[in-house]
Amino acid sequence: MDLSKVLGLIILGFVPFIHADPIVIAHRGASGYLPEHTLAAYERAIDQGADYIEPDLVITRDGEVVARHDIYLSTTTTVAQVPAFRSRKKRIGDRLDWYVEDFTLAEIKSLKARQAFPGRSGEYDGRFDIPTFQEVIDLVQRKQIETGRKIGIYPETKAPSHFESLGFDFAELLIAVLEKNNLNELGKPVLIQSFEPEILKRLSGMTQLPLVMLVRPASPDALHTPNIELDQIARFADGIGAMKPLLMDVHGESTGLIERAHELGLFVHAWTFRDDAYPAEIFDSAKHEVRHFLAIGIDGFFTDFPDSGVKVRDQFVEANRIGR
Ligand code: G3P
Ligand code: CA
Repeated sequence: MDLSKVLGLIILGFVPFIHADPIVIAHRGASGYLPEHTLAAYERAIDQGADYIEPDLVITRDGEVVARHDIYLSTTTTVAQVPAFRSRKKRIGDRLDWYVEDFTLAEIKSLKARQAFPGRSGEYDGRFDIPTFQEVIDLVQRKQIETGRKIGIYPETKAPSHFESLGFDFAELLIAVLEKNNLNELGKPVLIQSFEPEILKRLSGMTQLPLVMLVRPASPDALHTPNIELDQIARFADGIGAMKPLLMDVHGESTGLIERAHELGLFVHAWTFRDDAYPAEIFDSAKHEVRHFLAIGIDGFFTDFPDSGVKVRDQFVEANRIGR
């Protein structure tokens, strides 16, 4: 790793041997409260004190980068209610749905967001637009001025190989937006994540921003083994975004993955913490779960409920400051 990259990581507090406070990442915005990936959800997350907001990104037919969790649209938008779009439904694999690549930005803007989780309130369904990545950045910049706080952005490139097969270069499109906003610069609070290693390898030659490899268990029978080896990841990324079972076993003990990642110089962010869905067989509350993960050494975490995440993190930091 070159020295300037190390400097950028130090500025952001992401070097494992330097103690920094763990970060709270608002997963899809304050998605526990408002429809995910809307400006309202991101703004709520910022107001709740999140350090970073997390837009998942996909690409429209006319090459605009917009915030959605999936390449299909039915679960988080009103697309199914629009008669004019009925014929756009198509099958990819075993999923019959509407796909973002078949819609221009103007068409996407004619839709509204809706709650994706069945157990959560649908009160705000149909109220908010689907934002572009540029609009997410505009919001963050406005909130930084308003609050005087540094607010980070943690974009995820969703399905880059799918978009590549359609002729889009996700890495180029992402970097173009960041450069336009002077965000593709050393020390800017932007972390780029993906489940696909190839795009991160390409991005490692295009940016000094920290890169985060998202990892899941290798199989349902190997919950503590990442689907990509850590020493491979350390060649092109700076951190891992790990699904929780990789990091902690059913007895609440560390699996050792955090320690191994730290030895390789990788920071570790865990996903996803939810006040309305936590492993009640291990923890007596969602806050207890977060506290326990902080205690085993995570450097940050994705939560749908940034307000309680910030509270637990601040208490943890304070308790450890007193203990030092
Ligand atoms: O990006 C971290 C976490 O969000 C990964 O899961 O499916 O919610 O994007 P997903
Ligand atoms: Ca994500």
